[in-house]
Amino acid sequence: MEHRSHSVATLRSARLLPRPAKAVPELPGGWPLIGHLPDFLKDPVSMLSRGWRERGELFRFRLGPREFVLFTGPEAHDFYFRASEDQLNAKAVYQFTVPIFGRGVAYDASPELMDEQLGFLFPALREAAMCRFARIMFEETSQFADALGDDGEVDLPHAMNELTVKIASRCLIGQEVRDQVDTGFAEAYHDLQKGINTLGFFLPRLPTAAHRSRDRARRRVAELFSRIMKKRRRSGACPDDFMQALMNARYKDGRALSDDEITGILLTALFAGQHTSAVLATWTGLELLSAPSYLARVRDEIREVYREEGAMSLASLKRQVVLENAVRENERLHPPLIMLIRKVLKPVRYRDHIVPAGTLAMVSPAVSHRLPHLFANPERFSPERFDPPACEDKQHQYALIGFGGGKHVCMGKHFAYLQLKAIWTVLLDRFDLHLDTAFPAPNYGSWVTGPETPCRLRYRRRSQANIVQ
Ligand code: HEM
Repeated sequence: MEHRSHSVATLRSARLLPRPAKAVPELPGGWPLIGHLPDFLKDPVSMLSRGWRERGELFRFRLGPREFVLFTGPEAHDFYFRASEDQLNAKAVYQFTVPIFGRGVAYDASPELMDEQLGFLFPALREAAMCRFARIMFEETSQFADALGDDGEVDLPHAMNELTVKIASRCLIGQEVRDQVDTGFAEAYHDLQKGINTLGFFLPRLPTAAHRSRDRARRRVAELFSRIMKKRRRSGACPDDFMQALMNARYKDGRALSDDEITGILLTALFAGQHTSAVLATWTGLELLSAPSYLARVRDEIREVYREEGAMSLASLKRQVVLENAVRENERLHPPLIMLIRKVLKPVRYRDHIVPAGTLAMVSPAVSHRLPHLFANPERFSPERFDPPACEDKQHQYALIGFGGGKHVCMGKHFAYLQLKAIWTVLLDRFDLHLDTAFPAPNYGSWVTGPETPCRLRYRRRSQANIVQ
């Protein structure tokens, strides 16, 4: 008997026999029926970080009737992002987007079809398009800055939202939609956004007032996009933008996309890219203006780069590494999507643990970006951590996951970085800026985590700008 158990242990240590699977450890402190819901609603990042400290890279907890498992740390992320769609499934979780993006598109399509649909956008994000986007980002931010006048005060999140809607509608859809931002499109888009709420996450088709205005807005947007497409077809106009890329695209079987599919894919890109960018732009401003010595380095870099380059371009923005590290540090400290979720369709085994089917599997960029063995003094805003020799982001492919990973990795990361750098370069070049609020706490009440509002920003125009118009 002793001999037999010894040989099983030997086989196991030689990894010839799998170790017996154990249940995922549970986070203590949950209430009957509601589980950890109260702590989660108050401050999900503190609750989940406590879970990591007490239970390690995998633990389970309940929010009401739903059982969740959090995967934390680069190895656990690697496993999570590599899992196949029939194990960890995104489509089942993102059903609340279907009334907005539409039937047969994105999370209402099979994973293969969704890949094909989003794949049509890649050519519209290539280097040549980025050169054009850099100019558009500069023009839109300059116009925005001109409209502010010489001095005054704005609510920063509101201002960043307005500006990024203009940039995103022009770059991610087309000029005609940008031209209608102030005459109806922004309003319809806002109604669509209000359709993303906690109730909608669980019951996206429930006929509430918010869902009814969401559905009306979806019809208005579809009519607008359809009108623009018809006009383009009639006139033969062929602008180089996302809408045209989709109008010219063909599925593998040779079929053209319907107007409704094109509308849905454009809305997918807009929803994925606009609010997230607005929020990260806001955090970037807040942190920079609260760190005077780093801000001085950013301003020095702007002076130096534009003394040589003159105008803003993709090339000039690429040279701004001091600013880029500030954006990266904001991706780390304030990832707009604090949780990514998948439904477990088939039981999955990670190390010794089995995660049962039906569980919701989660990674949390906000928790993982605060792991003290990866990021020194993790609560501190310190963009220098990305400089050599530390290069804290390069320790593992999945140390920083603010833009996700694996097959659902964000396709707009370079666009987002470019946009944030263009916005803050123009604003810092034109104005002296001062925050008139204490540093705000995160507002966890929304799907995309921005700061509590208002965040008052005072501005005064500088006598000389470095960037040539
Ligand atoms: C600061 C800005 C942005 C942040 C923080 C961000 C973050 C993310 C994250 C975390 C994911 C993965 C979601 C998941 O795994 O469940 C994602 C996916 C995606 N992002 Fe972004 N994103 C940003 C900007 C953009 C932009 C500008 C675009 C458009 C060009 C975009 C398009 C997409 C799309 C289409 C997906 C879905 C990919 C898929 O499921 O295959 N994002 N984004």
